[in-house]
Order: sequence, then C-alpha cells, then structure tokens
Amino acid sequence: MKIELNENKIFFNNGKSIQEIHPFWIRERIDGDEYLDKGTQQRLFDPSTMNAEVIINKAEIKNGFLEVNFNDGVNSKVDIKKLEAEFSNEDTVIKSIPKKKWDSSLKNIKNFKYKDNFFDSKEMYDLLISFYEYGFVVIKNVPTENNYIVKFANSIGSVRRTNFGEHFNVKSKSNPNDLAYTTLHLSPHTDNPYRNPVPCIQILHCIENEVSGGYSTLVDGYSVTERLKAEDPDSYKILTEIKIRFKFIDKSVVLEDWSELIHLDDEKKFKQVRFSPRLDYVPMLEKNKLDQYYKARKKLSDMYNSEKYRIEFKLQSKDLLMMDNHRLLHGRTKFDPSEGKRFLQGCYIDFDSTEGKLRHLKRKFKI
Ligand SMILES: [Fe+2]
Repeated sequence: MKIELNENKIFFNNGKSIQEIHPFWIRERIDGDEYLDKGTQQRLFDPSTMNAEVIINKAEIKNGFLEVNFNDGVNSKVDIKKLEAEFSNEDTVIKSIPKKKWDSSLKNIKNFKYKDNFFDSKEMYDLLISFYEYGFVVIKNVPTENNYIVKFANSIGSVRRTNFGEHFNVKSKSNPNDLAYTTLHLSPHTDNPYRNPVPCIQILHCIENEVSGGYSTLVDGYSVTERLKAEDPDSYKILTEIKIRFKFIDKSVVLEDWSELIHLDDEKKFKQVRFSPRLDYVPMLEKNKLDQYYKARKKLSDMYNSEKYRIEFKLQSKDLLMMDNHRLLHGRTKFDPSEGKRFLQGCYIDFDSTEGKLRHLKRKFKI
C-alpha cells in the first residue's frame, strides 16, 4: 500500500489498483493543534457543516508525512501511516481471531489465574484472545469478598445493569422469578433472549460450592449450528429465517423481543444464537411451514441437549466463568441443597467492554 502524488492529486496504490483519494477525505483528517485535540484525538471542527468541494493547491510527501495546502487556507501535515491504517474499512482486531469449534471432546482449556494488576497485563490480553476463540474462559483465584464480581466486570468495561440488578445472586430461594434460583437441572439456554439488545457476556463467579451436583454445563452454539448447516441445510435455513417472540414477565416489567434462533450477519455468517424454550413463542404460520419449523427446532434442541456437544465442570470457590451469551448456551445439573451451600454471583457486560480492552492491550503491548 502506498500513497502517490500526481499534479496535486493524491492517489492510493494497493499494489493491484490505483485510486484517487477525495481531497475532502484528507481535509477531514488534518491534525494540526487547532484542528485536533491531542488528548482525546477528537476533532475541533465539524466537517459535516463544510462544503466538501475543497481543492488541493499543493501536496508533497516528506519523511512519512503528507503535506497539503488546501484552497480554503488550511495547511497541514498528516502522518501517512495513520492514513494507510484507515484504508481498510474493517475492524480486524476481533475478526482476525478465528473461532475454534468445540464439543464434548474439548480438553486442556487453559485456565487463567487472577493476580495483582491483572486487568492491564499481558495475561489479560491472552485471556481475551482465548475468550474470542472458544467463547468462554475460566479465571481461578478471583477474590470473593464485597461483590468483587462488579469490580471485576468494571475493570474490563462496564457492568450492564438489568432488572435483576447490577449483579444477581444465584442461590435457591422461595418464590423465584426465574428457574435459575431453584435447585433444578437447567438445560442449555442463552440468557435474556427477550431483551433488546441481549446482554453479550455473562460472568459467573463461584463464591462457594459445597454440593456434589450443580455442575456447570456449556455448549458451543457456533459448533452446533454449523454442524446443523452441514447435516440438514433445510432445517438450518428455516431456523435462520423465522423470527420468534421471546417474553419475560415480572411484577414490574414485560420484556419482549423477536429474533431467529440462529441469527446471521449481512454475509450470512453466524452472528448469534438465542435458545430458551421456557420463554419463546413461535408465530402463527401456515401449518406446513410450522411442521417444518417444529421439526427443525426439535433437531436443534436435540443437538443442544446431546452429551456429544456438552462440556461439564464444577466451579470451585473463587472460580470465575466468563462466557459469550451470543455464542454459547449454558446450564447446570441439579443439586441437593441439604448437602451444603451453593452460591454464585452473576452479572453481564457487553462486547464493547472486551473489544475495547483488547484493542487497548494490543496497543499497549504493541502486538
Ligand atoms: Fe442462565
């Protein structure tokens, strides 16, 4: 990639083709002290109010800088490396981390260990990479006092508060407003599918776990739905097309959102799964269509509930599980509360937290 000049026009040569860069595109990026606040890297002028028909009177390349003299009287030096970094419209930091598909054969996942200054460490960077590869990560030895989970979440980004509070306590209780607060087996599900937007990442912190049951279970929605696509494309297709209603009712709120069980991005690639059969309502459609839909949903449900795709492990005191609620399904095995205490705390954060932290650590460690 190269910037080239020809008669006061600026060109971008990517090795395959050459195209002229609009003068106003450069004009928007001038970074002299009076045009850009150096601390925040935010503009001190508003290009949206300006006439874009600006002309370049003179342009030169000197020592890695593009020196431009515009016809509106502005002269500026722009760092060419900074311009080149912008030619790609894609944010490659997250997209460059390939998702690793996994099933019950997954072994030897690296656990991370909490330590002082954890959140700005190289280990945190490795943790986030692992999180984006597998959709979850376990951190050992995380302090448990004073709702430390909230501090943990806020040290990566910001807690996403919901109607369950800033954080929630997972203990069995009487008159629960969600089955999570019972001792029952919980089949694989995603959390809060009725919310818009759905919380991106769930953090679960084990404070104490004295019971013999109560294992945490995880299923990779990405692996399962890719498998379904290969094995039964028609079922996959219908589950990516029909939107269903998810609903949650409480004394003070009625939450509702519509989505496909398998949601694809603009390029028809995996984006998100939602699955919570306690809370979903399929729309009234033609009988034949519903016949197909119910068959497809059963197939997907059988796969989600199959041992073949599930991993099971027991969270110990001080273990913290961070999981992608758009990719993974989670559940737990039942337990007997007469055996002892089982107490977990949970909260949510969104992808801007982990993405922002990862970009920051990449910059910090010059990776
Ligand atoms: Fe849950």
